Amino acid sequence: MRIDILTLFPEMFQGPFSVGIFQRAIDRDLVEVNIHNIRDFTHDKHHIVDDYSYGGGAGMVLKPEPIFEAVESVKSDIYNEEKPDKLPVILLTPQGRLFRQQIAQELSSYSHLILICGRYEGVDERVRQHLATDELSIGDYVLGGGELAAMVVTEAVVRLLPGVLGSEESALDDSHTAGLLEYPQYTRPSVYRGWAVPEVLLSGDHGQIEKWRRQQAILRTLKRRPELLDKADLTSEERKLIEKLKGESSP
Ligand code: 6GU
Repeated sequence: MRIDILTLFPEMFQGPFSVGIFQRAIDRDLVEVNIHNIRDFTHDKHHIVDDYSYGGGAGMVLKPEPIFEAVESVKSDIYNEEKPDKLPVILLTPQGRLFRQQIAQELSSYSHLILICGRYEGVDERVRQHLATDELSIGDYVLGGGELAAMVVTEAVVRLLPGVLGSEESALDDSHTAGLLEYPQYTRPSVYRGWAVPEVLLSGDHGQIEKWRRQQAILRTLKRRPELLDKADLTSEERKLIEKLKGESSP
């Protein structure tokens, strides 16, 4: 997979992409991440990327020209690799649709993504209407720009690519993959400061362990993120159990 990120702050991307799963994925040629400075696509002496908002009001707006030209430059690089209309061009903005694991899974099936990091008070609306194919937000809070969001999206997508994680299974059990939060995990020592690991995990009975983990995942989701259960992949028996637990906890 190839990911091109357009930003006014390329320096922000140096750290995260040079450690851990990213470094491994890049070293193994599973992903290529290119950072482009939007400012490099200006033509004026002062490399101006923003301007006043038509109609007035506080705050500067990112100009359309350098963003369009940056995206077109990336596309012209690779135009025969994949049909351009199938290439996602994603604007990171607090007004986008909420990024979730399911979207990470969808994006991981493309061979190429372009991410545009918004900045300042806004981006010229024509970028949304005529350039971006999608808009994503990583949560209901405001960041100074889309850079950290682009890193979040990139990490969530890259770790799903085949061969990036140690074993294929580790992504299957993730919180959110089955619509549930992950079950509790323990490692040695079996007793730490008097706190023992649940007996069943030491039993060697894999059937019982699976059952316990599934129950714990459901219980934890019910307690912390009950709204996730509506869309979770559950058996009718599990749904009944949840209704029973809900009944017990309400007065
Ligand atoms: Cl994608 N951008 C900004 N500026 N703030 C955000 C965001 C994105 N997602 C959540 N907050």
